[in-house]
Amino acid sequence: MTLRKVNIFILVLVVVIFLLVLHHNFLGLSDLLKKELSDSNPLGFQPIDFIPEAPQRLTVDQNENEIPVVITASDERLGGVIAAVNSIQQNTKSNVAFHIVTLNDTVDHLRSWLSKTSLKNVQYRILNFDPGMLAGKVQIDSKMPDSIKPLTFARFYLPNWVPNAEKAIYLDDDVIVQDDILELYHTPLQPGHAAAFSDDCDSTSNKFSVRGAGNQYNYMGFLDYKKELVRKLSIKASTCSFNPGVFVANLTEWKIQNVTKQLEKWMALNVVEEIYSRTLAGSITTPPLLIVFYKRHSKIDPMWNVRHLGSSAGKRYSPQFVKAAKLLHWNGHFKPWGRTASFADVWEKWYIPDPSGRFNLIRRHSDAAQ
Ligand SMILES: *[C@@H]1O[C@H](CO)[C@@H](O)[C@H](O)[C@H]1NC(C)=O
Ligand SMILES: *[C@@H]1O[C@H](CO)[C@@H](O)[C@H](O)[C@H]1NC(C)=O
Ligand SMILES: *[C@@H]1O[C@H](CO)[C@@H](O)[C@H](O)[C@H]1NC(C)=O
Repeated sequence: MTLRKVNIFILVLVVVIFLLVLHHNFLGLSDLLKKELSDSNPLGFQPIDFIPEAPQRLTVDQNENEIPVVITASDERLGGVIAAVNSIQQNTKSNVAFHIVTLNDTVDHLRSWLSKTSLKNVQYRILNFDPGMLAGKVQIDSKMPDSIKPLTFARFYLPNWVPNAEKAIYLDDDVIVQDDILELYHTPLQPGHAAAFSDDCDSTSNKFSVRGAGNQYNYMGFLDYKKELVRKLSIKASTCSFNPGVFVANLTEWKIQNVTKQLEKWMALNVVEEIYSRTLAGSITTPPLLIVFYKRHSKIDPMWNVRHLGSSAGKRYSPQFVKAAKLLHWNGHFKPWGRTASFADVWEKWYIPDPSGRFNLIRRHSDAAQ
């Protein structure tokens, strides 16, 4: 063995020892990290899950900076509520209490999705909606028995979900929030108003919407003005409608005015008299709200409900406008978890894949390949 060979041998030995030491340290470090993570128990952020039979109390004293948000979760679009909750949580320092209303066969799926992902530290409560509440109040079309989505009526029963709150936010599941929800929560409500909505005429996003599409921007698009019952309401047909997918409510006022009872009355009347417009393309939850809140609602900043992203109108928004929006709403047929929605990439930033693998985004192959 020459001296040179010995030198190379020693060099290789040193490198091997160095790598072994590095590897060992690295393992040690990662163990330490793992331990740190599992040990860290975020104080004060325990998920507050809710057993239907237990007394309905999120916290004994309504925390002053706690923001109650009510949102629904239906099984076939569960990814929606996940992205919405994540976007709200990531953009606020406030203590948001999510009240997620769902049907009892979705509870386990939802709970595992929340508890096995980064959402486990979110403060939430799962509430069970009994579709039996709607008996006699909605018409079940025998040709399309699934056309009634019971959860869309959950908003009619808002005080049931947050019995101790004076003020609460309701959100559809096809939204994401890009700013601090505290600002939406602070929307002032005029005395005597039980809720604040974004009107369809003065909204920023309405500039882009298709006027001809079923007149879905005034009362005529939602109510059948040929019906005596509707005419007797003396509501001007050209009055701007509002979007009921995002609203702030004063629940004290809601209860004083018996808003839930009033809404139920109009639901039941529609079953008998079919007072909703025949061209009604949107949800059948809108007409009762339009009647009950006619000239009796406050306004939310339109940037807090930038809508129509689920229809062709949404395609016309500029990326700058979408970026500036405080809340994006994919109302319409094309949902961001589906194949052809506009700005699905913006939504997907907030989406957390389902650990059970049961819910999957529908994407084009070209998208998947990227
Ligand atoms: C789910 O709720 C319905 C009615 O609300 C009830 O009939 C049914 O037994 C419930 N199922 C379970 C598994 O709790
Ligand atoms: C809610 O309505 C009640 C009854 O009208 C009123 O006293 C209260 O100030 C309102 N609260 C908010 C936050 O607007
Ligand atoms: C609301 O309901 C209560 C009890 O049913 C009734 O006493 C009250 O007059 C109602 N208020 C309104 C504004 O209809």
